Amino acid sequence: MAMRTLDDCFQDELRDVLSAEKQLVRALPKMAKGVASEELRQALLDHLEETEGQVERLEQAFESLDKSPRSKKCVAMEGLIEEGSHVLEEEAEDDVKDAMIIAAAQKVEHYEIATYGTLCTWAEMLGHTDALALLKENLAQEKAADEKLTKLAESINLAATT
Ligand SMILES: [Fe+2]
Repeated sequence: MAMRTLDDCFQDELRDVLSAEKQLVRALPKMAKGVASEELRQALLDHLEETEGQVERLEQAFESLDKSPRSKKCVAMEGLIEEGSHVLEEEAEDDVKDAMIIAAAQKVEHYEIATYGTLCTWAEMLGHTDALALLKENLAQEKAADEKLTKLAESINLAATT
């Protein structure tokens, strides 16, 4: 078996996150539909639009490496989405359900932040400058989305306690 290089790992991780983002594009509309708070719904729909842009950026990153944008099933994202979809089926008051959806959505964001953080570090080390710029944009969007959810959680969690 050929020895794996860091560049192999980088490309593998890029395929993994492409799969993760594509799965999220499919899942976010369902999550948005299932929440009660209009603000939360809008936040999820805004992030859907951003996620579609992230998929495009990842495809551009592959292009910059002269590679075809093949995804490799991200099992971790599949699990996170599955947990989130179970929340939608739970019997709970609106505020409580929304609080649980935020928790599930933030797990997704933190997973993506971890992945993009690693990808940015590797892209920099490997001298993939164009890919690095694209990945940094995605990372910044995920961090902003996470902060937005934290803000929303402040009021929604409070409502869920009463
Ligand atoms: Fe994303």
